[in-house]
Amino acid sequence: TAREGTARHGTAMAVFVTRRIPSEGLRVLSQASGSARGRAGPGRVGAVVTGRGDGSRSRRRCRVQLWDSEEPVPRAELLAGVAGKRGLLCLLSDRIDREVLDAAGPDLKVISTMSVGFDHLALEDIKKRGIRVGYTPDVLTDATAELSVALLLSACRRLPEAVEQVKNGGWTTWKPLWMCGYGLSDSTVGIIGLGRIGQAVARRLKPFGVKKFLYTGSGPRPENAAEFGADFVPLMKLAEESDFVVVTCALTPATQGMCNKDFFARMKKTSVFVNTSRGAVVNQDDLYDALAHGQIAAAGLDVTTPEPLPTDHPLLSLKNCVILPHIGSATYATRSTMAVLAANNLLAGLRGEPMPHELQL
Ligand code: NDP
Ligand code: DGY
Repeated sequence: TAREGTARHGTAMAVFVTRRIPSEGLRVLSQASGSARGRAGPGRVGAVVTGRGDGSRSRRRCRVQLWDSEEPVPRAELLAGVAGKRGLLCLLSDRIDREVLDAAGPDLKVISTMSVGFDHLALEDIKKRGIRVGYTPDVLTDATAELSVALLLSACRRLPEAVEQVKNGGWTTWKPLWMCGYGLSDSTVGIIGLGRIGQAVARRLKPFGVKKFLYTGSGPRPENAAEFGADFVPLMKLAEESDFVVVTCALTPATQGMCNKDFFARMKKTSVFVNTSRGAVVNQDDLYDALAHGQIAAAGLDVTTPEPLPTDHPLLSLKNCVILPHIGSATYATRSTMAVLAANNLLAGLRGEPMPHELQL
């Protein structure tokens, strides 16, 4: 067993994996440690492998402890699981704060998150402790941009509402003004955060006949904007002039609560708001008021606060609000690639090698 292996061979590079990640990622970890994954029951911590790592700097073995479940690791199990580990592979639903770092102790050298977002990581504390961080940019850009477009079209053309009408008998005949919404032709699209995903969204929306792209961020990015002829504008100007607002920025102290009462008050009554970044960028009470009082036409959210959104949340009572359960990157291929990248980041960090994608702290 894993424990016997450790005792026989002395210290191993121990890592904790906080969820059953796609099998391709687990396979990378297993291969690097020279053994197949052990069995563990759902919800239990399962010993995965012992074996010899093949790193050039260190030939020490790698021992992986997996929270072998579809569900998040309970906080107490996370604190226990990470204790004494050298590496941690986590998901965006795991809050890695000072408490976790303290529980891990001084041996923790590498954190690899299976996400591009890193707002769940206490980066200041992580940096102070000299811990390296891996993440998964680029590989999920296409999937997330595709979902952002799907969500935008669902919200502006009222797809869930229309589907419901077909099912509940509301579809009585073809009516000139029934189920009308807003289209992209000749529209102005405002992108908050013209980063990897923001650009990929703009690239996909352009062929729909968008007339003008606006964007905002911490500063102009002419090299990113040129492809779309996008103009850099202040946040409130973007709110005023856009027919569609798409939020694709990172969650930071500066972006937290950025889309609030003032922001929605500046938007047109006919405009549609879409958020595929993080829920906390939006003040949800203010969004509810704006939608309920017809201050804006509709919203599409892939991310909320909290996640999951309680089923009795007021936003869910609105017909003009389409809410998805954080599925931006949810294609089989993308999730598999993310898992492999997260595993390779972890292993490279453990070996003291450059990571395929390391966050510069
Ligand atoms: P990037 O780092 O490429 O882009 C982030 C963007 O945020 C940058 O363009 C940056 O612009 C912008 N930004 C930062 N500060 C501000 C600010 N104050 N105001 C406006 N914009 C700002 O990241 P990605 O495009 O790869 O990912 C973006 C985010 O999307 C992730 O952080 C994650 O939270 C979320 N995401 C959600 C997914 C889902 O499933 N729904 C899937 C994948 C990602 P600038 O540099 O000019 O400041
Ligand atoms: C991320 O990676 O940050 C997304 O939210 C999920 O893929």
